[in-house]
Parts: sequence; structure tokens; C-alpha cells
Amino acid sequence: MAQQNEWDQEYKSNLLVTGSTEPQNDFKRFLKYLKKQCKVEVETLRVLDLGSGTGKNSIFLAKRGAVCTGFELSTTAIKIARKRSLESDTNSTFIQRSFGEEFHFPDNSFNLVLDIMSSNSLTEPERKIYLQEVSRVLRPGGHFFVRLLALDGDKHAETLLKTRPGTELGTYQLPDVEITERVLTEKEFRHYYEPFFDIIKLERKSGYARVSGRIFKRQYWIGYLKNKV
Ligand SMILES: C[S@@+](CC[C@H](N)C(=O)[O-])C[C@H]1O[C@@H](n2cnc3c(N)ncnc32)[C@H](O)[C@@H]1O
Repeated sequence: MAQQNEWDQEYKSNLLVTGSTEPQNDFKRFLKYLKKQCKVEVETLRVLDLGSGTGKNSIFLAKRGAVCTGFELSTTAIKIARKRSLESDTNSTFIQRSFGEEFHFPDNSFNLVLDIMSSNSLTEPERKIYLQEVSRVLRPGGHFFVRLLALDGDKHAETLLKTRPGTELGTYQLPDVEITERVLTEKEFRHYYEPFFDIIKLERKSGYARVSGRIFKRQYWIGYLKNKV
């Protein structure tokens, strides 16, 4: 599986991911939008959480009545997610597998898919499968929340693309953690997602990321998407 060892190592050393159990504000704002503007209650959600990490987003939703499944590469992250899920008295399912391969779910199985900082790790062939599979398992009109690293306006990414380029276009290898990231321009984001999904909102926001104890200003795409009907 792509980058499985690198991500597992990361959860053991904690140079990149935070230990937080609380979802980011961008995701909480999306949940408010679902409730207020789409009249969708959390307890009606059947959620697929791609790159579920230590489970914070799934567990947050499960505590409020959603039924959640996570796909995750890292054995260490999965163990933490399962333990946290048990401790919170919820029963999300965390499955060790790559979302860059075909999903084992029937069509229209979910009404919400999450990709919160996960698909930046995919290779180009994996990204193609991921987009097709999300569209297939998401019900028509179902919601897709995406938060991803952006290239536009990101000085750190520009430097890394020059100094530590990966083998594919738009990729670099992060120093210390050995993880390869693909950063997207707005044009690329639209090119990938628009054939499958209606883009309800696409916003670029800056934030701070910690890597190996250092803080970097980064740019993120926040996408509210809906599966085409
Ligand atoms: C930056 S972390 C974000 C975790 C989580 N979504 C969150 O918001 O806390 C990215 C996660 O995606 C996982 N990941 C990366 N590529 C993956 C793949 N192809 N299949 C499954 N998980 C993957 C990593 O192991 C990692 O846990």
C-alpha cells in the first residue's frame, strides 16, 4: 500500500500529526452548514472517513448518532482509533486499507464522505480510483467534505517543490518524515473534482502546520461538494 510504512512511522514518532481528539473548526463549520442550510441532522449520516487517522472526526460524529466507517493505512492509528471509539462508547468501524484502491462497498452506501487532509498522499493512478469510488459509493446528492493542502499562495510548498521534488508533478517529499505530498492549484482541484461532483463552495484558507517541531504557514482548500444527481 502507498506510504503505509511512512504513515505508520509518523504515528509512532508524532512529528506531523497532532494528538488532538477535537475536529478542526473548518469541519465543525461544515456540520453547521449541513444542519442549517441542508437540514441534514447528524444522526441520519452514513459516513465514510477516508484516511481516518486516530478517529477524531468519525468518533465526534458517532457520539452524535452517525454511523461511521474509516479507511486508514496505519496500523498504529487504527489501534488508537478503535481504543478511543470503545472508550467513547461508540462503535465506528475502522478498516485497514487504502482508499486509493477499489472500495468494497455497494453503490450509494453513504450520504457523507470525508477527506480531511488525506488524499494529498495519493499517487495519480490512486487519485483516479479514489474519485471514481467516492462518486460510486456516495448517494446522488450526497455530501463530500474535502480539506486539502493548496499550492496557491503556499511559499513552503513552492520551496519544497524546488528543493525536494517527488517523482510526480506537484509532489515533494517532506523533510524528516519521508511522506510525499501532492499540493493542488485551484485549477487542478476543479479539474479533478468537477467531473464527478458539484462544487458548492471552494475556499482557500491559511493555517499553521507543525512538522518536526517547527511551525509552517500553509494554505488549504476547503471544499463543500455534492455528488452529481
Ligand atoms: C494528515 S492525516 C489526517 C487524519 C484525519 N483525517 C484527521 O483529520 O485527523 C492523513 C491520514 O491519511 C492516511 N492515509 C494516507 N494515504 C492513505 C491511503 N491511501 N489510504 C488510507 N489512509 C491513508 C494517513 O495514514 C493519515 O492517517
